[in-house]
Amino acid sequence: MFYEPAKGHGLPHDPFKAIVAPRPIGWISSINAKGDVNLAPYSFFNALSTHPHLVMFSSEGEKDSVVFARESGEFVVNLVGQALVEQMNASAVDAPRGVSEFDYAGLTPALSRMVRPPRVEGALAALECKVTEILEPKGLDGKTGERFVVFGEVVGIHIDEAVMTDGLFDIVKAGTVARLGYMDYAAVTETFQMRRPRWADTKPAKTG
Ligand SMILES: Cc1cc2nc3c(=O)[nH]c(=O)nc-3n(C[C@H](O)[C@H](O)[C@H](O)COP(=O)(O)O)c2cc1C
Repeated sequence: MFYEPAKGHGLPHDPFKAIVAPRPIGWISSINAKGDVNLAPYSFFNALSTHPHLVMFSSEGEKDSVVFARESGEFVVNLVGQALVEQMNASAVDAPRGVSEFDYAGLTPALSRMVRPPRVEGALAALECKVTEILEPKGLDGKTGERFVVFGEVVGIHIDEAVMTDGLFDIVKAGTVARLGYMDYAAVTETFQMRRPRWADTKPAKTG
């Protein structure tokens, strides 16, 4: 099949997010100027560079995570492993501003080291971030104000020793959960390795 998204897909559900999958889940904790704490999952989330470590999450509408990150200039990305997947889902509740999703989801905040927003206690890794910029990307209609992308630089990284194997972060032990389309999620239960080719290792082609 082929369709133009602007004209509709004619399917029971939009397949877009099932195609762009799996997506990592940035479980974002943030704090506002008053000290209210917020927690919510964002699967429009990713890392975008290593030097420095930059990450981004995108909010459809100006949600609390954006407002809080703008106010404090900080946020924390908590890793979602299988052990906390129900709590992650609970934290997506549309709680009124001022109600902490930590309490609603039965989670305990843990102190961060470099930023004010707390981490999720029990999250097997967390990235403490400082906001670098917030953009409002346009669609072809030129409209802004409908999505907000928060970029941040990672200034501190926590890893639970339990998920380190021989000095490597062990994603299978962490049971990292990814968002798929529809109501679907995936957990990483196995991995495989490939080495990137290097041009220098290529045999020169015979000439003559
Ligand atoms: C797994 C998962 C991923 C989500 N990803 C996004 C996302 O990328 N962008 C978004 O705007 N909402 C996303 N949501 C919905 C928000 O988590 C939800 O609207 C939440 O209430 C926002 O909280 P906040 O206003 O406290 O930031 C997601 C929900 C779930 C369960």
